[in-house]
Amino acid sequence: MTHRRVADINFDLANLPFLPHPTRILMTSPEHFDVTYVINAHMSGNIGEVDRAQARKDWISLKSAYVQCGLEVDEVGGIQGLPDMVFCANQTLPYVSEDGRRKGVVLSKMFAPERAREVQYFRRHFENLGYDIIDDLANGTTEFEGMGDALWHSGKRLIWGGFGFRTDPGVYELISEKLGVPIMLLALEDPEFYHLDTCMCILDDDTVLIYPDAFTGEGRALIRHFFPVVIEAPENEARTLFACNAHCPDRKHVLIQKGCEQTNAALRSHGFEVIELDTDEFLKSGGSVFCMKLMTW
Ligand code: ARG
Repeated sequence: MTHRRVADINFDLANLPFLPHPTRILMTSPEHFDVTYVINAHMSGNIGEVDRAQARKDWISLKSAYVQCGLEVDEVGGIQGLPDMVFCANQTLPYVSEDGRRKGVVLSKMFAPERAREVQYFRRHFENLGYDIIDDLANGTTEFEGMGDALWHSGKRLIWGGFGFRTDPGVYELISEKLGVPIMLLALEDPEFYHLDTCMCILDDDTVLIYPDAFTGEGRALIRHFFPVVIEAPENEARTLFACNAHCPDRKHVLIQKGCEQTNAALRSHGFEVIELDTDEFLKSGGSVFCMKLMTW
């Protein structure tokens, strides 16, 4: 089932089955990262502007931050000619069975033809690990960009599904059916917040960080219905520093682009430990921390 309005909700979050917290991080090495085309508003004016050496340093710092938080980091090597492959949140949506034994991924159907070839490398990676592969969407015509738009709730078998720019809302019926989970649909209307992970960061079972104006009134109401604590990022930090593209891998540390002062103060006041990182080179392509990793089981 998919739901768009609070009035449509016919279940209690507390009664949904438990979702184990993911423990593994996957990253794609950045040696071929670049801005060579424009497929989102942030990339415009940035073709040829990426400092690759700096990007590599930033990527290594991000990887070290995960290791410092006690997480294992797997890697899929970047491929020449696929400059956006480093944003490895987008090619798949990982899932796990209720008993934690069967793992799988839903493969994406990328919106931009420039990114279409990326998906096969993640398919291979997960096939080698013995994951189940759901490729109905990848073989179809309706777009879906994985964990750019589809976010697991923390600790519960429920998905938040963004749509409007990169993902077709129709895909969520199929995903909901295949994975047996309800999906809350959130319409995105501001082109600078083109993926759900640019304006919503689920921090723990009760807490979410959002940029409220990226959502419709219905969407904001749905978010407030399920999260007792909603932290709001101010516009400048959300728009230019991708404050909501932060990532909390362990319900404690928040990895975030440096300079998000007001957001960081709010995070700290709610007991989170902030780890500031430089993702400037990746911001030129419209991505920051959350886009550059995938969390799996
Ligand atoms: N240049 C990439 C694109 O437009 C950036 C992707 C960022 N990823 C994300 N999960 N928001 O597709």
